[in-house]
Amino acid sequence: MRAVKPHWRLEHLEIFITEEQIRQRVAELGAQISRDYEGQDLLLVAILKGSVVFLADLMRHITIPHSIDFMATSSYGAATESSGIVRILKDLDIPIIGRNVLIVEDIVDTGHTLSYLRRMLLSREPASLRVVTLLDKRSRREVDVPIDYVGFEVPNAFVIGYGLDYAEFYRNLPYIAIPKEGFFDEDEG
Ligand code: IMP
Ligand code: MG
Repeated sequence: MRAVKPHWRLEHLEIFITEEQIRQRVAELGAQISRDYEGQDLLLVAILKGSVVFLADLMRHITIPHSIDFMATSSYGAATESSGIVRILKDLDIPIIGRNVLIVEDIVDTGHTLSYLRRMLLSREPASLRVVTLLDKRSRREVDVPIDYVGFEVPNAFVIGYGLDYAEFYRNLPYIAIPKEGFFDEDEG
């Protein structure tokens, strides 16, 4: 197996949402969620791996008691295109029956992943099921899926950073960036 050598040509990145903009918006979302679930039970269900950075920041802005759990999914097909067929790689650790579940997503693109997850989680009879996503690529939507809290709308471009990857790299970038021409070029030798 050939080890992937990631490029780190940050000069080929356009910073689309800055650290400061993310910090502000995540704080607003946390405050709003805290108000909406005041006095109620709350379970955040984060979808691995892209939403871990968002979850870590968001939960520290949620000022009411809550717990967290994780699910991992994978869509069949090409790396950067969603095929609509979703596979569960890791299920929740705890039952959600009767609980107020808030799905935490990094980005909603075609909507297939979220649509599948919603149907699956709804069948487990939570008291309520809502969705918060950091990014919404609305122009790409193929299935209509309700989203309750949106951080930012993004255009139809591939974005990386703040949890979002390209081939499993760049999740650690503290901002959301759009790779420009040259970013994905192969290194010589
Ligand atoms: P959907 O099923 O098409 O909505 O795909 C959602 C998933 O595709 C996200 O959770 C991401 O993992 C991935 N994805 C979609 N667009 C992007 C992007 O621009 N950058 C990185 N990952 C993306
Ligand atoms: Mg994802």
